[in-house]
Amino acid sequence: MALRWLYTLSIALVWGCVVSSSSSYHAAVAPPQDLQITDPGLLGSLDIEWKPPPNVQTFNECTVKYKFEYRNTGDRDWKVIFTGKLKLRVGFDLSRTAEVKVQTLLEGRCADDVEVQSDWIYDTFQVPLQGKLESEVQNFHCIYHDWEYLKCTWQPGLLTPHGVHYGLYYWYEGLDHTTQCDDYIQDHGINIGCVLQNLSQAEYKDLSICVNGSAAATLLRPLYVTLRLHNLAKPSPPKQLAVSMSASEELHIVWSPPGGETPPQCLEYEVQLAEDQGEAKAAWASVSTQMETALTISRANQSRISCVRVRGRTNIFCADQGFWSEWTQECFSVFRKEDKQLFILIPVLLSLSSSLIIFILIGQCKKSTSEMENGVGLARHRLI
Ligand SMILES: *[C@@H]1O[C@H](CO)[C@@H](O)[C@H](O)[C@H]1NC(C)=O
Ligand SMILES: *[C@@H]1O[C@H](CO)[C@@H](O)[C@H](O)[C@H]1NC(C)=O
Repeated sequence: MALRWLYTLSIALVWGCVVSSSSSYHAAVAPPQDLQITDPGLLGSLDIEWKPPPNVQTFNECTVKYKFEYRNTGDRDWKVIFTGKLKLRVGFDLSRTAEVKVQTLLEGRCADDVEVQSDWIYDTFQVPLQGKLESEVQNFHCIYHDWEYLKCTWQPGLLTPHGVHYGLYYWYEGLDHTTQCDDYIQDHGINIGCVLQNLSQAEYKDLSICVNGSAAATLLRPLYVTLRLHNLAKPSPPKQLAVSMSASEELHIVWSPPGGETPPQCLEYEVQLAEDQGEAKAAWASVSTQMETALTISRANQSRISCVRVRGRTNIFCADQGFWSEWTQECFSVFRKEDKQLFILIPVLLSLSSSLIIFILIGQCKKSTSEMENGVGLARHRLI
């Protein structure tokens, strides 16, 4: 019995030792306090604040930082921000719940230069969602044309009350407050789109947009979207496409970047070639996707008529995605080798045949003059 008690005691002692030694190795730190989310009314940006952990003053040989993570409910991944600040403004999709979490990070001599992490604290935020989901506008699309103007369009929701009036509001970092669209596209008196100019300050930032609506006595569900202009760019078609052919049967294709505000270094081009085989309409075959504005290719099929077309879009150095421009097309005729031989043959044949005719004519002439002389002789005979 005593032995058993001693055994238990020694286990307890060893366990205590392990626990206390491990806690003396790593200073513990508490999570931040009073995490709060507030909506400044900027259509997607939320302000998040917290206070330092209560025991933060005791770590005078350490730096205190925070690991902040956020996402919308339904997103797979959290976005991460490391910061020493106690206040952040980050963008969310307001049509879904915003989730945030933050933990304290302690690093320095007080923690034996090992990073110590606290537990997380969490908070969520959701704007009050008015109206039925079916009243939200549908098929909302935006294109940033030539990096000059943004054109957004939508269709009325499935549940559209009579006399509905839609409004588009936007905000990006640098604007004092949300601004309403002042150039609406209308269909039968209903706003179904908007054109926004002078957005260069909003490039490479989050552009928050809300399309909401009102109708007498009916609440409509607002649509919230956050756009990245550079990912919505659509350039004009390339200009001055010119095709020439060298003696070695190579095609030289050159073109110029489209005009507008599209940065030329932000473009890539796709070049396609169709070689007419004389039969059905030639199929387009992609020959190159590149950033240069010139290309030399050897013609696969020695066809008589070929067409080249080029289009452009934003390259991966400037955006994650973009829209292709329309095509610029140029068709040209070339003569085949046989055609060329034929063309050399024709003058030869022509000159041959014409000399033949001349010979015949001369022959005929000579014949008729000798006959004439004979005739004259005959007449003389008669005279004599
Ligand atoms: C639409 O949203 C804007 C910006 O948040 C707001 O000022 C306006 O009152 C809203 N209109 C309706 C009808 O909800
Ligand atoms: C050349 O001809 C072949 C067969 O006729 C066809 O498959 C191919 O697509 C043509 N190439 C081009 C560039 O038109």
